[in-house]
Amino acid sequence: MTKIIAPSILAADFSNLQSVCGMLNSSRAQWVHIDVMDGIFVPNISFGFPVLEAIKRHIIKELDVHLMIQNPDKYIERFAAAGANTITFHLETVNNPLATVELIRRCGAKVGVTINPNVPVAALTPVIKHVDMVLLMSVFAGFGGQKFIPETFERIAQLKEIGKKHNADFLIEIDGGIDLNIAPKLFAAGVNVLVAGSSIFNSQNPMKTIEEMLGE
Ligand code: DX5
Ligand code: ZN
Repeated sequence: MTKIIAPSILAADFSNLQSVCGMLNSSRAQWVHIDVMDGIFVPNISFGFPVLEAIKRHIIKELDVHLMIQNPDKYIERFAAAGANTITFHLETVNNPLATVELIRRCGAKVGVTINPNVPVAALTPVIKHVDMVLLMSVFAGFGGQKFIPETFERIAQLKEIGKKHNADFLIEIDGGIDLNIAPKLFAAGVNVLVAGSSIFNSQNPMKTIEEMLGE
């Protein structure tokens, strides 16, 4: 089974991104998670293209871009050009999800779709066969450092069930409140990609925490 750690840069020291990238490059994290927030879909604003481009210049890992923005179609081409390897959009932010999926593909990136914890997992059914990854939020999108919502485990089981029913092949990613205690349980539940911000960057030794989270 694919097991990936995607440290979320949102919790890193923005005044020192080059050394953060150096640490991530030498770590066992395979991806780096990039949280883009617009202050409209979510109440918070994070960063945009210049920061993404700066990270891309220094990172050798795949960039996993999580768009928490209204009207993502407007910006997808630029995120792909700025170096996103995977682009994940919120189902709640688009009228025609399959058109957004197509747009991301045309731009040459892998396609992810995500929903907040209050959206039924079944809402993903129409796109399930067309995406490379489904991200189930384990906190409400908008802020780092929140508490993991335990019902996520039931939602993972539901998602796997829907995937099986439709014979769909996609990675499962979970994002929010993941620490060293929850990580092994998520991998055991069949999750492929774990996003973690605070638990990695606020730890004494982020590289070691990544290693332990991967659990091999
Ligand atoms: C929340 C973001 C998460 C966040 C995770 O809106 O999507 O990626 O950075 O941070 P932690 O691990 O601190 O919950
Ligand atoms: Zn995220």
